[in-house]
Amino acid sequence: MSEFLHIALPKGRLGERVYRRFAAAGFACPGVLEDTRRLIFENAEQKVRYFWVKPSDVAIYVERGAADLGVAGKDILLEYRPDVLELLDLQTGCCRMAVAARQDFRDRPERTLRVATKFPRIAGDYYRSLGRDIDIIRLNGSIELAPLLGLSDVIVDLVETGATLRENHLTELETVAPVSARLIANRASFPFHRAAITAVMEGLRQQPEEA
Ligand code: PRP
Repeated sequence: MSEFLHIALPKGRLGERVYRRFAAAGFACPGVLEDTRRLIFENAEQKVRYFWVKPSDVAIYVERGAADLGVAGKDILLEYRPDVLELLDLQTGCCRMAVAARQDFRDRPERTLRVATKFPRIAGDYYRSLGRDIDIIRLNGSIELAPLLGLSDVIVDLVETGATLRENHLTELETVAPVSARLIANRASFPFHRAAITAVMEGLRQQPEEA
């Protein structure tokens, strides 16, 4: 196991915000926010390396030990259930998994509900808990289109500001789960890097979330 602490950051604005908190916690790395094409950054003095990873892939890197630490949305953790340690709610990237439908949607409980989503497991678990039969239509994006075109009755998707729903005349019916960014760790490397990871966690806890 490397003495360097490997941290997978989700590419994008959330990752940049979280990186600033790592940096303020004493784990800065030159170039991370400036060099837009490079994917790996190292601070040899602090013995830390950062990788920019597609947000939905962070948990894979951490689960398989290519990264010791990472930042992943609770939505990804609920959907893929990677075998990782969830260490800290970073209280950023906050949104919710919700059910939404056209404003004129009227549920008929005796009928199978057609649910369009990028999160089939979360949707399946939710409706199973309600004892409701559903037909899952797995899509990869622009989920809001599905009820507008009659492809589905409802959607299960992330809602942050609600602007996408509003602009498409959809209405939010139920909240499935609150979502925020979580600090996750590889199970095997956690004991090996315990001191550094504890220092990271302490530092992150003390950094207030930026607007
Ligand atoms: C996400 C999500 C919603 C939207 C919610 O989509 O799937 O469509 O953001 O945000 P809002 O409530 O602030 O409008 P994303 O931008 O990730 O694109 P996607 O359609 O490809 O999933």
